[in-house]
Amino acid sequence: MKALLLESIHTRAHEVFGAAGIEVETRPGALSEDDLIEALQGVQLLGIRSGTNLTAKVVENTDLLAVGAFCIGTNQIDLAATADHGVAAFNAPYSNTRSVVELVIAEIISLARRLPEKTQKMHGGVWDKSAHGSHEIRGRVLGIVGYGNIGSQLSVVAEALGLRVIFFDAADKLAHGNARRMPTLDALLAEADVVSLHVDGRPGNAGLFGAEQFDKMKPRSLFINAARGMVVDTEALRERILSGHIAGAALDVFPVEPKKQGDPFESPLRGLDNVILTPHVGGSTQEAQEEIGGFVAGKLAAYVAAGSTANSVNLPEVQVANDGIARITHLHRSVPGVLAEIVTILGEADVNILGQQLATRGEIGYAVIDVESPLAESTVEKLAALPSTIRLRAL
Ligand SMILES: NC(=O)c1ccc[n+]([C@@H]2O[C@H](COP(=O)([O-])OP(=O)(O)OC[C@H]3O[C@@H](n4cnc5c(N)ncnc54)[C@H](O)[C@@H]3O)[C@@H](O)[C@H]2O)c1
Repeated sequence: MKALLLESIHTRAHEVFGAAGIEVETRPGALSEDDLIEALQGVQLLGIRSGTNLTAKVVENTDLLAVGAFCIGTNQIDLAATADHGVAAFNAPYSNTRSVVELVIAEIISLARRLPEKTQKMHGGVWDKSAHGSHEIRGRVLGIVGYGNIGSQLSVVAEALGLRVIFFDAADKLAHGNARRMPTLDALLAEADVVSLHVDGRPGNAGLFGAEQFDKMKPRSLFINAARGMVVDTEALRERILSGHIAGAALDVFPVEPKKQGDPFESPLRGLDNVILTPHVGGSTQEAQEEIGGFVAGKLAAYVAAGSTANSVNLPEVQVANDGIARITHLHRSVPGVLAEIVTILGEADVNILGQQLATRGEIGYAVIDVESPLAESTVEKLAALPSTIRLRAL
């Protein structure tokens, strides 16, 4: 088994593959479609970040078993084509959660102490020693909008610093520590000294936060968005900062972001007092890269060894451990009677089934069947020849 890792994936991934007996080849940059097809000959596992596109053409012209997106997004992978060819895809949806939380905590303190202004003046040679407008965050109310992976972890860390946490989420969420769930967004806005957005990118969240929401925030409150750029009306925010209604803001994401390193950054929020602007780096830390490396490589290794598709972004999810039991994994078109056909073939071969799991996702089904002893080659061939079979593995 061989893995090709592109785009300088963290060496933690090499360690995980090494421990699993998987050979690793690395390339520092991304590859074009044709170069990727060539590089993948004789390779079963691919690791990429956001710079390499795994297209249908690549999938059709290679013999990949699985692909790992060593990042959060999976837009660069043709998920339908990979599923259709039985190539499992994994990513790292939570590995940079802590990094985002730490950035937000730093921003809350920085804005409360008006550090952006102070450091700017000092660089300009101005000594302006004053407590005016500077506050401790202890006892202040933090309003978290979106209490998912990031929002809920922010809640825990913020409470440890003495903030009082309230949150609003569209779904029912367990409140951590002393955090209080608010019945509506408006109720949160009326109470929070700091509002921090951590909602996901569902289409309905476009424009979630505009003039009306800013006006409902408390006078001189702080605003933070490290979630999605399209959620916030930046013109409306600019007006409230200029009027003083919002005392400070930190933004890490923007409705339009430069495509590549060095492209100019345009925003109505440039040049405003007590506003922190960062280039979408909330999750960008060495620790997050290491965590991502270990997490995604672990998912790929578990798929290779045990057939576990837990956290797969394109295949039905079946979570199984590598417990040394003989196992077949059967990825198939989800049509009536598939499981019966498999069981019949196993029965005819006198194979004792110890356990079986089936999951479906759209038109694809995935059966994991533990058997008493390894299957004869003729039985494996019969299963592979079923019309519904996309990929059969005997482990
Ligand atoms: N700045 C960065 O570098 C960076 C890094 C990682 C994640 N993110 C972004 O942070 C956001 C949160 O990430 P996560 O992993 O916590 O996501 P998540 O899916 O775990 O949580 C999102 C939460 O928001 C809630 N929600 C969605 N729409 C809502 C609405 N209109 N009102 C109230 N609640 C709503 C959902 O129910 C869910 O609980 C995402 O948009 C993600 O893309 C940014």
